[in-house]
Amino acid sequence: MLAAAQGYAPRPQERVSDARISTPDAEPASAPLTNLPGRKRRSLNGKWQALVDGYAAGMGDWKAVWKDRTATGKSQFFEYGFDDSVTLDVPGDFNTQRPELTWLEGSVWYRKAFEHDAAAAAREERRLFVHFGAANYRADVFLNGEKLGSHEGGFTPFQFELTERVKPGENRLLVHVNNERRKDGIPAQGFDWFNYGGLTRDVALIETPKTYIQDYSLQLAPDSLRRVDGWVQLAGTAPRQPVRVRIRELGVDVRAQAGADGRAPLHFEASFALWSPAQPKLYRVEVSTPEESLQEDIGFRSIAVHGDELLLNGKPLFLRGVNVHEEIDGRRAHSEADAQRMLEQAKQMGANFVRLAHYPYNEHLLRLADRLGLLLWEEIPVYQGIDFAAAGMQGKLEAMLAEMIGRDRNRASVIVWGIANETTPGPARNAALTALAQQARRLDPARLISAAFYGPGFHGRALTVADPLIASLDVVGINEYFGWYTPWPVEPEQAEWKPFGKPLLITEFGAEARYGHHGANDVANAWNEEFQAEFYRKQLRMFARIPFLRGTAPWVMTDFRSPVRMHPLQSGYNRKGLLSERGERKLAWQVIHDYYLEVAR
Ligand code: GCU
Repeated sequence: MLAAAQGYAPRPQERVSDARISTPDAEPASAPLTNLPGRKRRSLNGKWQALVDGYAAGMGDWKAVWKDRTATGKSQFFEYGFDDSVTLDVPGDFNTQRPELTWLEGSVWYRKAFEHDAAAAAREERRLFVHFGAANYRADVFLNGEKLGSHEGGFTPFQFELTERVKPGENRLLVHVNNERRKDGIPAQGFDWFNYGGLTRDVALIETPKTYIQDYSLQLAPDSLRRVDGWVQLAGTAPRQPVRVRIRELGVDVRAQAGADGRAPLHFEASFALWSPAQPKLYRVEVSTPEESLQEDIGFRSIAVHGDELLLNGKPLFLRGVNVHEEIDGRRAHSEADAQRMLEQAKQMGANFVRLAHYPYNEHLLRLADRLGLLLWEEIPVYQGIDFAAAGMQGKLEAMLAEMIGRDRNRASVIVWGIANETTPGPARNAALTALAQQARRLDPARLISAAFYGPGFHGRALTVADPLIASLDVVGINEYFGWYTPWPVEPEQAEWKPFGKPLLITEFGAEARYGHHGANDVANAWNEEFQAEFYRKQLRMFARIPFLRGTAPWVMTDFRSPVRMHPLQSGYNRKGLLSERGERKLAWQVIHDYYLEVAR
């Protein structure tokens, strides 16, 4: 079975036909290892050989011309092979690395050779995995000509075990990445951001002992400021092992025994300095077994809903937010330096909350948010036109959600799992997302579940969103664009919103302006900064009258690339940014900055 764990079972015609790259039932992917920074890792980042397979022929019925072969002698000739191919930087999208790839929606084959000391690994009985931070959108991974498996989904980690297939000396990793949009994809074929393809995040070789620490959850229990109800998950041939968790600073030293399933439940109490934006306290946590010991910095905090209030560590919370896309300098952001620039810009605006639209981000950014004290909404790209009735869709949705939660469950900064953005109610969608909300709650009872809905309509005199999915959520997110996509239904001060009995977040609101364009503030199609600033002033006048409003997030912090934004003044960018793509502040930036200064008092 190919990587069914990842929810992607290639259709028969996609099996590689070439004899050299055979596809016996490759190993299913193992669930991605948690806490990569804390492990014995060898980075494979850097230059990879790359063959552009413009029409995605390499995985089709055609003879796979993409195999990794070297011409010998003077007469043998291969038109196209890795040895004299271009190179691409990994991590990084392929679209922005070569001009001929700018608009590519197709396949690129990457090759990386690495040495392996098989003798030492065998002596120490160590296991070897290759871990990908993400690859957009589908990846097929081969080692020394044999297929390891496939993964679908452009923003979550995946890995394959190499232990039984790696050989002494040089090994060659081949990765086919295809970023074509798909009707049955997540996201589907229509979305308002640039479809950056490729090995967009870190790639590393990870070594573990024969039985290893695969995952763990160490967060406060939902109803406590002192108690951790956690677990450690071991994987391997001898899972019944003692597990130990220590937090030396707090005098925590807890032991538990993993059962036949490798799971070791853990319960302990401590007097934590609770993590918050004002005090982003992280503790050095050690998780160990007789075979290995991992460390990482974890914050402990409580996030809850009480009626229509948001409570952080038991105190009312208002989210001074902003939306971002994972983009910087016109390319897919991926590094710690990129994350530093993005989150600093959010803090300069006075934000304490960032909605990571519309997909899980690179792990550097989430770990930095833990350190900086920024609260996060993280979501999977269940965006607008998803084909919820497509065969296998529920499995793919749940696999993607599990990959996101599995990676980030110990990040104090993440307070909301978003399961959808602007999806249209209907039987298949309602069933799929209700089940997804339940899965999120099962996987992580210590966080809030939400979704962002299209803007409100009137029910009687009151504005609201009537959607059956709301009943499954802790928090309601609404994207409203009064004054841009839709005219104001009433004057802002007259707008009355119907209570949901839950906290309301205005998860998007915004209007476009080209930085440096100035003019009258009441002319929408002039794309000027004055109009955008006035748009925000009007929004704030409405917000002041919503008693159960618990947070706002302008759409969007920075102008971002989108192929569906081709007005001459957009020139391929969605220009709702409070900042230009060069980080220049538009007049509206000051409006939000001053509002957040006021709200924060
Ligand atoms: C939508 C959507 C965003 C989009 C924005 C816009 O609400 O969620 O992804 O970019 O509106 O139209 O600018």
